[in-house]
Amino acid sequence: MLIQILLVAIAAIALVEGHVIADDDFHNVYKLTGQNSNRAFIEDIGMGKYTPEEEKDPEFWRNLARQELQQNLKKQRLNMNKAKNVIFFLGDGMSLSTVAAARMLKGQQKGNTGEEEVLSFEKFPYTGLSKTYCTDSQVADSACTATAYLCGVKANIVTIGVSANVLFNNCSASMDPKNHVSSIAQWAQKAGKSTGFITTTTLTHASPSGTFAHVANRMYESDTDVRSFGRDPEECMDIATQLVTQEPGRNFDILMGGGMSKFLPNTIRDCHGNLGIREDGKNLLSTWQGMHPEGIIATNREELLSLNTSKVSNIMGIFQSKYMDYRLLSDPVKQPTLAEMTEVALKLMQRNDEGYFIFIEGGLIDVAHHATKAAISLDETLEFDKAIELARKMTDPEDTLIVVSSDHAHPLTISGYPGRGTDILGLNQHDSDSNGLKYLTLNYPIGPKQYLDDKGNRLDLEKINRDSNFEYPGYINTDDGRHSGDDVGIFASGPFDHLFTGVIEQSTIPHLMAYAACIGDGPTMCDAN
Ligand SMILES: *[C@@H]1O[C@H](CO)[C@@H](O)[C@H](O)[C@H]1NC(C)=O
Ligand SMILES: *[C@@H]1O[C@H](CO)[C@@H](O)[C@H](O)[C@H]1NC(C)=O
Ligand SMILES: [Zn+2]
Repeated sequence: MLIQILLVAIAAIALVEGHVIADDDFHNVYKLTGQNSNRAFIEDIGMGKYTPEEEKDPEFWRNLARQELQQNLKKQRLNMNKAKNVIFFLGDGMSLSTVAAARMLKGQQKGNTGEEEVLSFEKFPYTGLSKTYCTDSQVADSACTATAYLCGVKANIVTIGVSANVLFNNCSASMDPKNHVSSIAQWAQKAGKSTGFITTTTLTHASPSGTFAHVANRMYESDTDVRSFGRDPEECMDIATQLVTQEPGRNFDILMGGGMSKFLPNTIRDCHGNLGIREDGKNLLSTWQGMHPEGIIATNREELLSLNTSKVSNIMGIFQSKYMDYRLLSDPVKQPTLAEMTEVALKLMQRNDEGYFIFIEGGLIDVAHHATKAAISLDETLEFDKAIELARKMTDPEDTLIVVSSDHAHPLTISGYPGRGTDILGLNQHDSDSNGLKYLTLNYPIGPKQYLDDKGNRLDLEKINRDSNFEYPGYINTDDGRHSGDDVGIFASGPFDHLFTGVIEQSTIPHLMAYAACIGDGPTMCDAN
């Protein structure tokens, strides 16, 4: 691969200079570049000092190719079982560049060069690409995409669980049942399956809301939020109320994440020490407990891990007032990890002979990308990876379909020609800008920090302390990063995993899962038999 990169570079140089040069005429190229920085990187990297010893043997690559060939040949046996269980994992904002950088970080944390590492879901047999645009927007948000990948219909940005007939903030349209689109969680519930979701954001955040809500504005998380957009909560039901009192949310077996304040009146302090934000006086946690007398509300890690899943009917885990904390900055005694939440949820749901559907979101990948905190975003991606690995270990691919995807991309770039094994979170040691300053391998086009001096020149990042909370540089100044419109990956393992290939509309994903599980109104594998 490195050789290819160099050849591309060489070809580009040859074009610019108007000379035709032989591929192996390295010395000439080196002279032709004329630029010190280019010269330095070729001298440094191109001379083999970064190449792992075993990779110099062509048999190394041929062996690897034979292994990958054998793995792909095994795919001649298709898994055409009915999916009793479906687990849908969503990495919010997990672009393909995020996947690649996280894989390198994972390998480097093991003391390896990193690029060759494989994330748990990258071992899944089938992959495809999902087109993420929404009906009115080239680049999507987490609301219209949730409608697509959970309800199977594309709609307008910022709306959830409604068709594209509903425009932003139009309450009457969003409350009209003829504009509602139902989610795969509802289809699964109708078939007698256990249902629920886990997120690291709030229970009322855009992505998980796609499993149960119908709103003209994702920000309607509580009655107070509805009022803040000039709408009447009597007319337009807030997301927390929909979750606790309406179908299908009221029946969910599992609800885990943050966002306790959205469920409590502003006169009550939650167990995390913060006041609720509701103005309607409703205590939705009491309402939920009343509806599920054998259900349990867990508010910290110990309560969650010590509960006996065979003694409770439903679990509401609500671990922070707002978002859950980034794993790297969290109190590991108080806050459970995504993998820990996943383990408890699957244990409870596995009791149902009819199976289950669960939506599990790594929601802080996106939140950290918005803050251009790449190190945290990659760590959250690795937490997401661990939860998927555990879910695959706890279940059988013969009866449990696991699909991993993302709602939209984030414009994290991995650029320059850093040497093999270069710290993915660090500076490219082999290249510098036109002022001779080194730059980071990871950058964003848009973000809060440019690191420029008064004259607009880049600051020397070698002199700036970079901890895990460091904000990576952006080119365009905004208070907050932005999503990007590239396709995201789909990774599938289990019954009918071979359907999750090609470049498909994001809204097709739940229809494919429903096909494998024989749920919903569309064609399913059960009709075919
Ligand atoms: C809301 O949508 C309906 C159509 O469903 C339309 O008749 C009405 O004028 C819209 N209201 C506003 C305030 O745009
Ligand atoms: C959980 O409860 C079940 C049913 O009462 C019991 O058989 C089991 O031993 C309990 N497990 C633990 C770890 O306490
Ligand atoms: Zn976002």
